[in-house]
Amino acid sequence: MTSQKVVCLGAGIVGGCTQVVFASKCKTHDFYVVDIDEERIKGWNNFKPNYYEPGLNKLLKTCLNKNLFFTTDFENTLKDATLIFLSVGTPTKQRGEMKGIGTNLSYIESCCRMIAKYAKNEKVIVIEKSTVPVGTAQKITNFLQEYNKNETENEKENENETTKENKKKQKQIVVLSNPEFLAEGTAIKNLQHPDRVLIGGPNTEFGKYAQEQLKQLYKGWVPEEKIFFSNTWSTELSKLTSNAMLAQRVSSINSISQICEEIGAEVTQVSKNMGSDPRIGSRFLNASVGFGGSCFEKDILNLIYLCEHYHLYVVAKYWKSVLELNNHQKLRFAKNIADTMFQNLENKKITILGFTFKKNTDDVRGSAAIDVCNYLLGEGAILSIYDPKAKPKHIKLSLKGYNENQLIICDSVSNAVIDSHALVVLTEWDEFTQIDLSKCYQKMIHPSYIFDGRNIINRKSAQKIGFNIYSVGFPK
Ligand code: NAD
Ligand code: UGA
Repeated sequence: MTSQKVVCLGAGIVGGCTQVVFASKCKTHDFYVVDIDEERIKGWNNFKPNYYEPGLNKLLKTCLNKNLFFTTDFENTLKDATLIFLSVGTPTKQRGEMKGIGTNLSYIESCCRMIAKYAKNEKVIVIEKSTVPVGTAQKITNFLQEYNKNETENEKENENETTKENKKKQKQIVVLSNPEFLAEGTAIKNLQHPDRVLIGGPNTEFGKYAQEQLKQLYKGWVPEEKIFFSNTWSTELSKLTSNAMLAQRVSSINSISQICEEIGAEVTQVSKNMGSDPRIGSRFLNASVGFGGSCFEKDILNLIYLCEHYHLYVVAKYWKSVLELNNHQKLRFAKNIADTMFQNLENKKITILGFTFKKNTDDVRGSAAIDVCNYLLGEGAILSIYDPKAKPKHIKLSLKGYNENQLIICDSVSNAVIDSHALVVLTEWDEFTQIDLSKCYQKMIHPSYIFDGRNIINRKSAQKIGFNIYSVGFPK
């Protein structure tokens, strides 16, 4: 196959990580990642991506400026591109109609405008990597074809050239859906060993050609039987429903954690007992303080929007309950801290262990820690927060309505625990499983409490030392 230029719009977690892995696997192609954020591009070009992902930096070194380039130059990068990935954000709308449910497609639209304006190749294959509402590929196709038609007609009028010449200039455009399933913290591993690659596109001659071109990109390292083709609607929907199903499992086990606490069962045991049935499976059955991240909630909202659009209100209600349960789990966890500690947190120092939405990432977007900490701050607590990777500025920006003296960001567990009344575990970082609880206990105010939102602290050892411990889904 001849060498091709691949362009990706958006140098975030998905855009950056996918292109690094593509570049490391496909030496026959050149990969260009374009972003409007100059700082972000500078970071990539200095081998310092502005977020943490295990294995990323090492891989980046193998391909940056060889067959992988980061730039803010849309015009020159797009002009001769054939394969163009869209990897920009698709957040939930913050205003207007369907505020808080619908998807803000402004970043996708601005990419389409760039493509329409600058992509001059006769064949243009646009690929949705971003998670988008079902039907977006059609919207993009309509927009690009409309733009192209106007452009060609203008040229006809201006140049007064032969029809033959104009026909030659007419761009062929197709939009494919190729959603991404990487999870943060394991992104590189997930991309190198995907469970499946989905490719959706139209069943036209050019549609089939485009799907084959995209398949060629993956073929170097993804076994053919793991590349699934379907129509665009199915592919777009599969992305939303995959996240919805994963989130639903977490809400399901979290609902069971509440039953366990009432009747004296242990949720970890129940998970193990259920999960050993291969029809159920053991993954995503860890009860927790609640799921977080930038996607589960937004993608379920996206699904709810779709259901409501088609008047499927019972279905919409079903998926809403997954989010309701998650919000309830976060709130009841936070309330339990106050209830257990004399229903009074005023000026009490509480140590927060972990702020990111899961381990092995520095991403705090949508983290359950935000809701829990906001509740505790609202009750007047003083929080000393330690997270191995979260950036202090991101922690500060995500919390609200507190006084400066209510927030201390620490650089170690041992500093964070001094004079605190409770340890609250909100992220399952490996280092928290190794904490010297006796040393912590000595530095803390007594009675001392542990509230374990991830079930990673050994309950018996903690109790032996003198802690009162609450773990999600264990008898109180
Ligand atoms: P992100 O916020 O990390 O990155 C988005 C990037 O797009 C930013 O760098 C931003 O500056 C850039 N951008 C905005 N407008 C642009 C434009 N017009 N041209 C070029 N760049 C522009 O987002 P992310 O976490 O990488 O997610 C991107 C998409 O992938 C979302 O739709 C998300 O739902 C989906 N997704 C995310 C994950 C994940 O784990 N984060 C996994 C699978 C899918
Ligand atoms: C998730 C999906 O796993 C990816 O396949 C998908 O590509 C991505 O969303 C996306 O579209 O953005 P991610 O959000 O990075 O990936 O992380 P997950 O590992 O799925 O965890 C999500 C949340 O659920 C975390 O807060 C995690 O702590 C929580 N969780 C997960 C639990 O509480 N219990 C579990 O058993 C599993």
